[in-house]
Amino acid sequence: MEKQLTLFVAILCVGAGSAATLGVVHTELGRVQGQRILLGLSRSVDVFKGIPFAAKPDTLEKPKPHPGWDGILKATKFAKRCIQMSMLQTSTFGSEDCLYLNIWVPHGQHVSKNLPVMIWFYGGGFLVGGSMGPNFLNNYLYSGQEIADKGNVIVVSAGYRVGVLGFLSTGDSRIPGNFQHAAIVWVRRNIKSFGGDPENITIFGESAGGASVSFQILSPHSKGLFRRAISQSGVSLCPWALNRNPHKVVQGVAARVGCPTDETMVDCLKATDAATLTMAAPRIQQGSPDHPLVKKLLLSPVVDGDFLPDQPGNLFHNPAEIDYLVGVNNMDGYLVTSQDIPSVGKKSQETSVEDVKRLLGAYVKEKGRAGLDIAFAEYSADWGTTPSQETVKRTAVDIGTDYLFLVPSQTAIYLHAANATSGRTFSYLLSEPSLLAGPGKPYHTWVGADHADDLQYVFGKPFTTPKAYGEKHRDLSGYMIAYWTNFARTGDPNTGTLKVPVTWPEFSRTEHKFLDISARMNTTSIKQEMRLRFVTLWTRTLPSLSSAHKFQTSVSNKKTKSGHRRKENGR
Ligand SMILES: *[C@@H]1O[C@H](CO)[C@@H](O)[C@H](O)[C@H]1NC(C)=O
Ligand SMILES: *[C@@H]1O[C@H](CO)[C@@H](O)[C@H](O)[C@H]1NC(C)=O
Ligand SMILES: *[C@@H]1O[C@H](CO)[C@@H](O)[C@H](O)[C@H]1NC(C)=O
Repeated sequence: MEKQLTLFVAILCVGAGSAATLGVVHTELGRVQGQRILLGLSRSVDVFKGIPFAAKPDTLEKPKPHPGWDGILKATKFAKRCIQMSMLQTSTFGSEDCLYLNIWVPHGQHVSKNLPVMIWFYGGGFLVGGSMGPNFLNNYLYSGQEIADKGNVIVVSAGYRVGVLGFLSTGDSRIPGNFQHAAIVWVRRNIKSFGGDPENITIFGESAGGASVSFQILSPHSKGLFRRAISQSGVSLCPWALNRNPHKVVQGVAARVGCPTDETMVDCLKATDAATLTMAAPRIQQGSPDHPLVKKLLLSPVVDGDFLPDQPGNLFHNPAEIDYLVGVNNMDGYLVTSQDIPSVGKKSQETSVEDVKRLLGAYVKEKGRAGLDIAFAEYSADWGTTPSQETVKRTAVDIGTDYLFLVPSQTAIYLHAANATSGRTFSYLLSEPSLLAGPGKPYHTWVGADHADDLQYVFGKPFTTPKAYGEKHRDLSGYMIAYWTNFARTGDPNTGTLKVPVTWPEFSRTEHKFLDISARMNTTSIKQEMRLRFVTLWTRTLPSLSSAHKFQTSVSNKKTKSGHRRKENGR
């Protein structure tokens, strides 16, 4: 089958000489040659895999410039992923030599010039992942081919170090952390040779990649490097995105690899081999309602006084000129919440109200009993006297979605719009039901868009593997590629080379509009004030409470009032 396909492509290549190709490309470091993929009689994509943008990094050091090469580098194979733990957390795979990127350049009859450029940063909790993504039958999730071809943009996907080697930090320059900047700098300096417009760069990413994008736009070091950014299901303000206590984490890792925690610690860590360091990351164990999974994600970017000079929430003046498109999936918390409360994801098991309360209690821990009472009153306000199992389970998922993704993303959107000068702001909610939901399928029928469900649509998988999807999924994928690439081209998701189903209004200081994205879109897909009651709960009501220890003394007299509070908040 594959042989036949290769033969068929070979015949096409001979028969259709009209589609253009870049051939050998000159970069600052040397010459590279990719591979041409013909897509039709006068349409092709040049693919470059595994171009180094920095030298093999020294352990726990910033990336260093690559020395360059003689001759022509054949860029036809993805580089290894950055070294990371295996799924079972019992071994490592990948390499320290992993600072490479991949480029997809579309052409019509003529070689492309001045195309918009989109640089992808993968997710994986800052612990795992690779620039090409998971691979199924040689179909890589993050292949930029569909986006490049349909949107007529250049797609770049870049590797970055993960886990201890990427994000262990002393919170200062001794072990700096935050290593994703070098790839953008390389693209800015070299993409013109590939037919890209260095003035029209958009960075985009999902989950930890979305948070990475958010950190990049907040950093003063990014000034002038790129114009636009897209964060899917992750921003710097997410509770899992910032390591607030780097010293504790670095000391834990030092202890596990047998390094002293005195002034020799840093040298000792840097002399430890990569696999040992990688295995010394805090293990991700099964969560529970009292100890949710998110609290175990400890290796993430830090405020280092340089790349991030301050808390992310204080840096929103920096991206004032950046166009920013941000959104979440309507059940982004499903995956994680059904780890923390396993019964939530099981059709045959009941979820107790007590478990939902315990999870919420863990999330509002600093606000003590009073915080929990207020938050629970808000989440159960529409329950009636005896909530159904569906209601209880959906509430658990809502709590996870709000706390981990939706509310932090909304906060970032409000702050960006408030500080923006020329930069525009666009907000979305993806609500397409999970492909795994329904009768006879693993998920409950009510499950919407789960974490990472957006990836397949943005990367055009319903077109690449049509049998796995229906016609409506191709519609949805086409819509997302249109909005995303139009945005990369013009800063407005509605304007560009592709038609969109509905005009997506800007999120402004005065009008908090967002687009509800699904396979069935019309003017009713334009909505406003996403989950305002819950955004208010997490960003105003809870922070206004004093913290738990102060509260202990006054808990008893507040308790009597919680009945009133329930009514007040039940709107
Ligand atoms: C970006 O691309 C658009 C469309 O091709 C073009 O109009 C614009 O001048 C380019 N440059 C900048 C800086 O926006
Ligand atoms: C701009 O962002 C800062 C945080 O960096 C925030 O404190 C401030 O309120 C924002 N400005 C406006 C006008 O809201
Ligand atoms: C918009 O789509 C929704 C959901 O598919 C449908 O119920 C509604 O009738 C449509 N409205 C219009 C104005 O077409």
